[in-house]
Formats: sequence, C-alpha cells, structure tokens
Amino acid sequence: MQLIDGKAISDQVKQEIAAEVEQIKAAGGKIPHLAAILVGHDGGSETYVAHKVKSCEQVGFKSTLIRFEDNATEQQILDKVNELNNDADVDGFIVQLPLPKHINEQKVIEAIDYRKDVDGFHPINVGRMSIGLPCFVSATPAGIMELLKRYNIDTKGKHCVVLGRSNIVGKPVANLMMAKTNPGNATVTICHSYSSDLKEQCLKADIIIAALGVPEFLKGDMVKPGATVIDVGTTRVPSTLTKSGFKLTGDVKFDEVAPKCAFITPVPGGVGPMTIVSLLKNTLLAGKKEIYK
Ligand code: GUN
Repeated sequence: MQLIDGKAISDQVKQEIAAEVEQIKAAGGKIPHLAAILVGHDGGSETYVAHKVKSCEQVGFKSTLIRFEDNATEQQILDKVNELNNDADVDGFIVQLPLPKHINEQKVIEAIDYRKDVDGFHPINVGRMSIGLPCFVSATPAGIMELLKRYNIDTKGKHCVVLGRSNIVGKPVANLMMAKTNPGNATVTICHSYSSDLKEQCLKADIIIAALGVPEFLKGDMVKPGATVIDVGTTRVPSTLTKSGFKLTGDVKFDEVAPKCAFITPVPGGVGPMTIVSLLKNTLLAGKKEIYK
C-alpha cells in the first residue's frame, strides 16, 4: 500500500506557482490577486478561508478577505460580488460556502463573472468542463486529478466508482474521470444515498472516490484488493483527544481499507491540501488571462 501524500505534492505545486510569480514580478507584470467573501463564523469555513489566504501569501499572491456578519442580506452579498466583478485589480474571487440559509447560494454563484470564478462553480464553467472546453475546473476535483497524475495512477479503461453526487465534487470528478484525457478515460459509476447495490459496485471498482460526507462510510469489506481509494471526506467529528475539540474525519474507515489498497489518500493530508493549490492555480490562470481574455 502506498500513501498518497497530498501535503508533499501540494508543497511541490506551491513552489512551482511561487516560481511563476517571481517570473511575473521580474518581468514587471501584475501579481495575481484572489479575493474571498466569508459570511458568518462557521468554524470549518473560517479555517478553510484562513488557509486560502495564507497559501496566497506563501506563493506571493495578493489576497483580500471580505467579511460579513451572519445577518448580512442577500443584496449586500450580491452588491459585493458586483463590485469585485468590476474591480480590475481582482483577478479571481470566491464566496465561501455554505452561506446562511436566508441567502440563495445559486443566485450568488450565478452573479459571479464566470471569468473571475476561480472556484469553477458558475454554470458556464461547469458546462464548459463537462464538454471538455477550457474553463476553471473546481478545486477539489482538479486536486484529485492532479494527485492521480503525479502518482502515475492508471485510470484508462478502469472502473471508477464515485460515491456522492454533489455539484462541488461528485458530479465534476465523475465528468473528469470519464473525459478523453490522462488521467481520465475511465468507466464511471456514480453511487448515492438511493443506490441499492453500492457495496457490489464498490467491490468491482479499481478506483473509489468517496465524497459522501459520511464519516468512515467505506469499510474494508467494500473494497477490492489492489484498489485505489481517494477520500474526499472532511467531517469535523467531536474529539476529546485534540486541542481544537474535533477531529477531521474522512469517508473511509482507513485502518480497514488501507491494507487492501494499492494507493490511498489519508485524512488529513490527502485531498485537502490539493484543493487549495488548485484554487491558486486557477487564480494564476485568471491573472494571466489564460482561459478567458
Ligand atoms: N465550501 C466547501 N468547499 C468549498 C470550495 O471549494 N469553495 C467554496 N467557495 N466554498 C466551499
């Protein structure tokens, strides 16, 4: 069994991005600028956004964090999105999800100029991705593909089971795995909460991508020997063993599954760090106007 070290790969990609930023600076070009809108004080969101801002600093990007209280109105958020759409200094921006219940997330996502949508959530980017056109690919699926690529994991003609059908991970990663690319060219099955034969499907899988958000859902007896398992779960489970009072828990029962695998991602330190570097890569592309002019 080989552990897929997302932290090490993400450090490597960050160095590559930082080197590009140095080149841009040396040539007198514009430093990429990422802005993030954070509404409220959700613990997970605070942590993720703090990591995103810190990672921008590490690679030499400019970053701006814009905070709103939980009681901010939908119109206030839409006005800020509009302001960022028209701010020539901001190359790309994200609105951290989830938003408070009284704000329509889809309306906010669709208000973002797709040319600055470095999260790849706008329907134009999602649609372009699904038919293989240049676009911003959302960060977690892009990070998973980068891990498969850098570990030379063969996906062509393999059976890939994706657990979960979310717009952020399940659907886009299924699309990328079946695309005519390398990695890609896999036979893909998507399973979800209504799938009646989920265990049978998993047992046939060469690659399992678990993105259900159910801690330790995938057990040892659901995995074929020699499979590759990618764990996207990041549920905060209360724990008395950590200072923070919670433990980040994946969708895979690691101790049971890992011994059966050819490759597996740990939680933390697998997919998580890759999500952030994918966002940085998209911001770099946005800064260079490489996808959209
Ligand atoms: N919430 C959970 N993951 C993400 C992400 O990748 N982007 C944003 N904006 N919100 C999230």
